[in-house]
Amino acid sequence: MKHFLKETDCTSAELSEVFAQAREFKATRGRATPAVLAGQTWALLFSKSSTRTRVSFEVGIHELGGNPLFLNRNDLQLGRGESVEDTARVLSRFVHGLIVRTHEHSDVQRLAAAASVPVVNALTDFLHPCQIYSDAFTAAERWAGPGGDLVGSLRGRKVAYLGDTSFNMANSWILGASLFGMKLALAGPPEYAPGPAIRAQLAAEGRAADYHFTTDPVAAVRDADIVYTDVWASMGQEDEAAERLARMRPYAATAQLFAAARPDALFMHCLPAHPGEEVEQAVLDNPRSVVFDQAENRLHMQKALLAQLAKSARR
Ligand code: CP
Ligand code: NVA
Repeated sequence: MKHFLKETDCTSAELSEVFAQAREFKATRGRATPAVLAGQTWALLFSKSSTRTRVSFEVGIHELGGNPLFLNRNDLQLGRGESVEDTARVLSRFVHGLIVRTHEHSDVQRLAAAASVPVVNALTDFLHPCQIYSDAFTAAERWAGPGGDLVGSLRGRKVAYLGDTSFNMANSWILGASLFGMKLALAGPPEYAPGPAIRAQLAAEGRAADYHFTTDPVAAVRDADIVYTDVWASMGQEDEAAERLARMRPYAATAQLFAAARPDALFMHCLPAHPGEEVEQAVLDNPRSVVFDQAENRLHMQKALLAQLAKSARR
């Protein structure tokens, strides 16, 4: 793996290695972590707000012996019109990797095409692959048990995704479910159904579009092992918030809806949450809500991804 821009950038061998490494990093946290990034600086190039992603990457790079360098887009000449390509070429002369959060997915692809160092997608409007890997790991560490096959434990399990099924988290679950062999039902208003770009991505990779979209939230959660939701107005959609909230109200993750999933189903949310909108506080507080484990696992999973990228870059 040269870059990590989308879920399917890992080969299946790398996927198993990364999940096993994340488990190892989690188990040994606080003890010495191998300094695989010793002497390296990794830049975080962010155009959007972040709590979990920024902090978990900065701490993770530090724990791997490297130096994180946070760069807000507007502090760079990029914010004044310097091209994405020249920014990638220049930063590649200074740093060992770029971790990028921005709007346009094509900007991350252009950075990766022009950079001579690894590029990591830390969220675009299209995909949030670091989050999905951490979420899948959060379920797998429960389902596989100690020493069990993490990735294999996901196969055949069902995810129900509620709300805005047209944006980054839903798209990432569509690719992720295909990669992990999971079943995926998405429920939302028809105008927020999965769009052509994710279908084109599946087609480009020769993957079947084997997710199911429905307008019926109860049908989506039936037999689900994971009930997942995200905010109804993502970063950049603030002007549409009132309309989105009105349209998506029937897809709120209520205690009643969560009870219609399997009795051992997990509740997941990438956070930040808006309790009272897409999810009831009672669901966030349910013992089967694993939202803070998802957040913590960002650290362990991203350390594993960085270690894998650094290994590939040395080859
Ligand atoms: N889940 C997630 O990516 O959170 P942040 O926006 O706080 O980084
Ligand atoms: N869909 C949300 C995810 C935040 C982690 C957003 O893009 O704002």
